[in-house]
Amino acid sequence: MKKAGVFFVVVSGLIALGSCEQPSMDNPETGEVNGENVFQYYCTSCHGPKGDRMVGQAPDLTKSNIEDDAIRKMILYGSDKGMAAYQSLISEEEFPALVEYVKSLRN
Ligand code: HEC
Repeated sequence: MKKAGVFFVVVSGLIALGSCEQPSMDNPETGEVNGENVFQYYCTSCHGPKGDRMVGQAPDLTKSNIEDDAIRKMILYGSDKGMAAYQSLISEEEFPALVEYVKSLRN
């Protein structure tokens, strides 16, 4: 009886831990990744919701014209001017949608 109690506590603890994972950026209905959600979650503190806020040395993303690959690298590895590396936070599936969204901010 006592063992069953311990087992229950451990299992419910694991379930609670599992539900604390970072919020999902995916659309639960279509399974599609929403680049805008990823951007709003991680990037607006410096780049602003429209990409034109320039906190610290952050450039205006609406005027940026760097290539996809350069965008990817900046997000993956960050920069010593104050942009963090998001390699471990953003999944492979989220990357293409995020890069597309960053480009869609341009005007
Ligand atoms: C802590 C502030 C901060 C956050 C948060 C941040 N950035 Fe940046 N970002 C910067 C800074 C500073 C630079 C300039 C880096 C440089 O020029 O070396 C930059 C540069 C960039 C560039 C290069 C633009 C150009 O034309 O050179 C892109 C693209 C970019 N950020 C996208 C993002 C995305 C996408 C996110 C969210 C995943 C994000 N940033 C989160 C500060 C931030």
